[in-house]
This record gives sequence, structure tokens and C-alpha cells, in this order.
Amino acid sequence: MKNSILLLGLATLFITLVAFAPAQKSKPWPVPEKFEKMKNPVAADEASLKAGKSLYTKHCESCHGKKGKGDGSKSAQLDTDPGNFPKDLPGQSDGALYYKIVEGRDDMPSFKKKIPDAEDNWHIVNYMRTFK
Ligand code: HEC
Repeated sequence: MKNSILLLGLATLFITLVAFAPAQKSKPWPVPEKFEKMKNPVAADEASLKAGKSLYTKHCESCHGKKGKGDGSKSAQLDTDPGNFPKDLPGQSDGALYYKIVEGRDDMPSFKKKIPDAEDNWHIVNYMRTFK
């Protein structure tokens, strides 16, 4: 009897640990050279940042959070860590970010179809650069 209670306790503990384990740390995400070196053709002026903000709010904020910290309303349900933009983006080129938005990976959806206009993607890149 004691043993079965102990077992039940262990099973509950195990299930709790698995269910509430933090999202997996993301692995390196290779970017093809063509995108790595791609120049951002859209100036980060007021109009671009405004367009970027509205697209970001609509398509990205639910996972990445208002300021890109990875704390959006859906973030707890993700298996992959959406990262922390203020910390993770500075070392990356605009082209690399553009590539990741268009292609997606794991829990990060591909936006090829939802945001087909290249310029819109560059607006989002410009807007993401404002996260500090
Ligand atoms: C359903 C949740 C979800 C949505 C919506 C989403 N993302 Fe993501 N995003 C993720 C996850 C999870 C990752 C990490 C993917 C990985 O590493 O495999 C990620 C990764 C990224 C990265 C790479 C970050 C890095 O450190 O290299 C960028 C850039 C990005 N997302 C931008 C966006 C933009 C811009 C949008 C909206 C157009 C968006 N995401 C919408 C979940 C999401």
C-alpha cells in the first residue's frame, strides 16, 4: 500500500516535470549566405516603422510579445523558445532576420504566404530593430 502511494507520487512528480519543463532552448539557425549579405532596401523612416509595428502586432506579438521578449500570450504553449529579440538580434544582419521571417522553423511559422510582399517583411525587420 505504502509503495503504491509512493509510486503514484513519483508518477505525478514526473508528469508535472514533463508538462512544465521550460521550452527547449533553440539550436543555431543557419542562414544562407545570399540572405546573410542581403541589403535592407527599405529605410527605417517613420512610415516604415509604423507599417512594421502594425504588421508585428497582428502577426508576431502573440508569441514574441510586445517588445520581443518572448512573452506573448501564446508563448507558454510553444515547444521552442521564441527567444529574446533585444538580446538575440544585435549580432544578426537584416537579411538574416528577413530570411527567418519568410522561412520559419519549428514553432515559428513561415510567413511566405501570410506576408507575401517583401517590403512588408523589411518594415517588420526595421520595427524589430527598435526593441531595446
Ligand atoms: C506561433 C508563434 C510564433 C509566431 C506567430 C511568430 N514567431 Fe517568430 N519565432 C517563434 C519561435 C518558436 C522561434 C524560435 C524558432 C527556432 O529557433 O527554431 C521564432 C524565431 C524567430 C526569429 C529568429 C530569432 C533569432 O534569435 O534568430 C525571428 C527573427 C522571428 N521569430 C520573427 C518573427 C516575426 C517577425 C513574426 C511575425 C511576422 C514571428 N516571428 C511570428 C514563434 C513565433
